[in-house]
Amino acid sequence: MPPSVRPANGSAASGIRGAYETLGVQAFYQTHGHEYSNPHNDQIVRAVALLMASQQFSKQPNIPIRVLDLACGSGEATLALQDWASAQQQQQQQQQHARRHRAGGSVAAPPPLLDITACDPYTQQAYQQRTGSAAQSWSFQDIADGCLAGRAFDLCVCSFALHLCDPSCLFITLYQLASHCRWLAVLSPHKQPAVRAEHGWAAAQAFKVERVHVRVYRSLNWGQLQD
Ligand SMILES: C[S@@+](CC[C@H](N)C(=O)[O-])C[C@H]1O[C@@H](n2cnc3c(N)ncnc32)[C@H](O)[C@@H]1O
Repeated sequence: MPPSVRPANGSAASGIRGAYETLGVQAFYQTHGHEYSNPHNDQIVRAVALLMASQQFSKQPNIPIRVLDLACGSGEATLALQDWASAQQQQQQQQQHARRHRAGGSVAAPPPLLDITACDPYTQQAYQQRTGSAAQSWSFQDIADGCLAGRAFDLCVCSFALHLCDPSCLFITLYQLASHCRWLAVLSPHKQPAVRAEHGWAAAQAFKVERVHVRVYRSLNWGQLQD
């Protein structure tokens, strides 16, 4: 099933492929980006929770995990990450509470902190409305052109969007991402596009939550183009 957007006329979410074909991706999001939402949100929330439990994205406690939510839509991945961090925090508070009632209990690890940067050329309004935060306007092409210079992220999450990157700029976009992000997680209802070592990424793991594929890659280029 394709990602879902409710166009202004209220037609079924599954019509997005047709809308892409009729209007083109750019025109579709230019006209409908402000009202974008993804009906697979629950699966994204579960997928992100599993993703965050699967790897140590930041090796230093107390330092926020720097995340790039690439092609952020109306904040599906951002909100899923924030849900995960809140759940972790709650769990740790409960554990701390339980420890206080036990003699000799160990000190709890600090809850995870997040520093999320989101970007999308078409859905900044929807992102702001839903998350209360501003998103950058960076497109895949902007990333290919070097807009991440001087920035570094522990993790880039690209949910339901990497297949929209034009094949002509996919290689350099992935290469740039690999230079600025330690890890890449691609969430998608299918396995496209292929992300390979020549793009600067080594496959680390893959799993599925219902129909959502999650592919996780470790950077082979980390730090190369950071200035
Ligand atoms: C199916 S939505 C996914 C949004 C969100 N990440 C999610 O999980 O629901 C695809 C997103 O890709 C964005 N997009 C389309 N073309 C893009 C481009 N050239 N560069 C960056 N983002 C783009 C759209 O604005 C839209 O938010």
